[in-house]
Amino acid sequence: LPVSLPIASAQGDYAVEFFPDVDAALQAAAGLDDPFFLVDRHVRALYARELAPLLDGRRTLELDATEDEKTLAGVGKVVAFLQENNATKKSTVVAIGGGIIQDLATFSSHIYYRGIRWAFVPTTLLAMSDSCIGAKCGINLGPFKNQLGVFQSPSRVLIATGFTRTLSDLDVASGHGEIIKLMLTGPPAGYRKLKDALDAEGLRTARLPELIYDSLAVKKRVIEADEYESDLRRILNYGHTFGHALESLTAHQVPHGLAVAWGVDLVNHIAVQRGLLDQATFDDVHAFVQRHFRFTLPRHVTASELIAASRRDKKVSDGAVNLILLERPGNLKIVPVPFDAALEQQVGGYLDSFDAFRGR
Ligand SMILES: NC(=O)c1ccc[n+]([C@@H]2O[C@H](COP(=O)([O-])OP(=O)(O)OC[C@H]3O[C@@H](n4cnc5c(N)ncnc54)[C@H](O)[C@@H]3O)[C@@H](O)[C@H]2O)c1
Ligand SMILES: [Zn+2]
Repeated sequence: LPVSLPIASAQGDYAVEFFPDVDAALQAAAGLDDPFFLVDRHVRALYARELAPLLDGRRTLELDATEDEKTLAGVGKVVAFLQENNATKKSTVVAIGGGIIQDLATFSSHIYYRGIRWAFVPTTLLAMSDSCIGAKCGINLGPFKNQLGVFQSPSRVLIATGFTRTLSDLDVASGHGEIIKLMLTGPPAGYRKLKDALDAEGLRTARLPELIYDSLAVKKRVIEADEYESDLRRILNYGHTFGHALESLTAHQVPHGLAVAWGVDLVNHIAVQRGLLDQATFDDVHAFVQRHFRFTLPRHVTASELIAASRRDKKVSDGAVNLILLERPGNLKIVPVPFDAALEQQVGGYLDSFDAFRGR
């Protein structure tokens, strides 16, 4: 596998760099200019030995990786930390953690002094395979996810896949949720490779580094063509309309990527109903999601609840939601779908046929 993947960005090109182990990635982080570290509290404890040389005696803020921290209150903590420790235009915010720490770092570094550099050491599968490139971030407002955001490209992304070894099974599955989304977005060979790897070896497959690289390569092609999400980039929201709704309805008890995997399955059902997707492809993806992404919802969720929650989606306008629908692997279409009886019936039909959203 290549050791780096270059990403072109209007805000400055950067690269995703792959390191053989955790220590090597952290050593690279130690060389960043005037660093201010934001670290996931849990990661700091788990990797106390590896992180000590990097963080001891340095300006470090520990944050909780919770959706409650990913709010303006959390951003307030970060910018106060930067100010109290005299961060300047030349400083670098260094995020060590998953998507939550990343989103806090992106938002905060964008607004502090109108923008300072930030770098990222992703420690979750989701962050390594999807969120670490693309410069986007989302901060939660009230019960709804990712309502506030900015674009701020990282200056460097330092990946050590070894961090995934300590992730919970649920967080590994969550990472694979975004990987499925990307593999269905890119060339069909990617989805086949993912399916082969997971069916043969399970979610902690030894082919993880390759799957991470391939996922980023798919996302790279999309974000380089449409960095600021004017059109094409919207396909990366595949699975997210009902995924976000599921997260909101369960107060974020369903991890993001897992919600996305089921959100993909649900919109695929809608795509079949609307004559876009063939039944065989639906069945294949559905069986794959069933095999690897089962979970029990904390409570039963209904079609009208899901639809009501999806109305807060950023893809809603004029009483319709722009759904990203699959035509075949590698081919997605953005379709405006009105909030009408047909939609309610299709979502209801999915919930009735499959036990995914049944809950305890
Ligand atoms: N900005 C983007 O482009 C983008 C894309 C996708 C998702 N997101 C956001 O990212 C968030 C989800 O991020 P995530 O899934 O990466 O995880 P996370 O940051 O929510 O972390 C998940 C859990 O894993 C723990 N953890 C992190 N690294 C660990 C490690 N190496 N070993 C053991 N435990 C570890 C955390 O403490 C936490 O409990 C959501 O808020 C989502 O909206 C952002
Ligand atoms: Zn996502």
